[in-house]
Amino acid sequence: MRTLRALRTPALVPEPTQLTALPGRFTFDETTTLRIAPGAHGAAELLRTLLGPATGLRLPERPDGPVVLAVDPALTGLGEEGYGLTVGERGVLLRAATPRGLLAGVQTLRQLLPVEALSEHPVAGVEWSVPCVQITDVPRFSWRGTMLDVSRTFRSVDFLRRYVDLLALHKLNVLHLHLTDDQGWRMPVAARPRLTEIGGHPHGGAYTRAELAALVRHAAERGITVVPEIEMPGHVRAALAAYPSLGNRPDRRLPVWDRWGVCDTVLGVHDEALDFCRDVLDEVMDVFPSPYVHIGGEECPTTEWHASPAARRRVADEGLDGPDALHGWFMERIGRHLLDAGRHPLGWTETGTDLPPYFTVMPWRDSAHGRTAARRGHEVVMAPHRSTYLDYPQSASPDEPPGQPGAVVDLRTVLRTDPAPAHWSPEESARVLGTQAQLWTEYVPTGAHAEYLAFPRLCALAETAWTGRRDWPGFQARLRHHRTRLDTLGVPRRLSPTSVQGEESS
Ligand code: ACM
Repeated sequence: MRTLRALRTPALVPEPTQLTALPGRFTFDETTTLRIAPGAHGAAELLRTLLGPATGLRLPERPDGPVVLAVDPALTGLGEEGYGLTVGERGVLLRAATPRGLLAGVQTLRQLLPVEALSEHPVAGVEWSVPCVQITDVPRFSWRGTMLDVSRTFRSVDFLRRYVDLLALHKLNVLHLHLTDDQGWRMPVAARPRLTEIGGHPHGGAYTRAELAALVRHAAERGITVVPEIEMPGHVRAALAAYPSLGNRPDRRLPVWDRWGVCDTVLGVHDEALDFCRDVLDEVMDVFPSPYVHIGGEECPTTEWHASPAARRRVADEGLDGPDALHGWFMERIGRHLLDAGRHPLGWTETGTDLPPYFTVMPWRDSAHGRTAARRGHEVVMAPHRSTYLDYPQSASPDEPPGQPGAVVDLRTVLRTDPAPAHWSPEESARVLGTQAQLWTEYVPTGAHAEYLAFPRLCALAETAWTGRRDWPGFQARLRHHRTRLDTLGVPRRLSPTSVQGEESS
């Protein structure tokens, strides 16, 4: 009987690329020590941080410890983020070509332990054992992310740290923070204090530089890159409320927007507006080491540019076809600034052809735009709304809390959508970095609500982006067990009416 139990395949999410279940178990106890090779100390620290609260395990270092963490750059088949994990009855060997690969292996080890290991509180009476396995695990895509809109609804740094932990459990590796929009500016900019003083209200607040820097470190320790987004030249009403001269009618005073939708007030195309964007991005790059910096770019009505003598002068001076061409001109100017600073500019694309070719693009309207962009030579992160927008309800049930109208994005749809479909050419597919889910927060008043919308759909996204098998029955079977991990972590299965209406609580 014991052997039968041991040979049951562990229910891991995302599913590893290759897993062989072996007989027997390895048990962690207070005497268990770690053998930590050079480059593996970050993974050792993460293992201790994650397991400590529930298990009380200290896992001290010893040269002959039975749990070995090793970085070996010769393991080239594992890439940047893959790992190999062998669990035998007398020892554990976790290996990767990079420290980052070990971090993914740590999360697998954590999922192999009893569910109680994920508790934040000490748990007594549980044997901390893992089944013997042989795992070789390499992600299909290098970009496995989620965008969180902290502009429409401000989220505390405590919430963000917890969210990062939840992403890391699923081997997601990008947290894209949508920091500015018409309804709120959350990014501190020393040179422009009114952005957060005026633009940070009324819907919440703003972060400090120290908070964001600490978040970036917390994420990096878990293998996650925080990608900042500063919207331009549209979705800037909060900035215009703070600095009216950045707009097209400097005499006009506007409040931070208090409605949802697309607002036709946009940045001017004069030197002051361009200098503003470059100054802001310089501070953003100081805080966020991410190789990619997102500058929005979508939903930018050109009505104001058509009406503005200064904008029309710009059109003439630059020899452009008309005011509509100012959008591409603007994105090129600012994108070039990021490129000169050694970063990759990133933008939302609405057609696949609207951004300069050196931009990495996120097609959000239609997945066909991803293929168009890939053909044009863009790097692509797939973000089509019909399969990756988590602000849409996850079912058509009348019990769902109010969400973005227009579609339902259910779990199966998230799992089923291939970021680089088989009918694309190998060259097109090779330009797809990966995919990410979007959590816009017009209809997400609380942290609990955000987690309710994110999970389990992010489990499906992780499966799609890491494993790429899109095996619905197998995924459902594993998710049944995985859901108990989320329960242990306190991720809500459903929302009470008060938490739908309540204030930010976490
Ligand atoms: C978007 O949905 N505004 C990218």
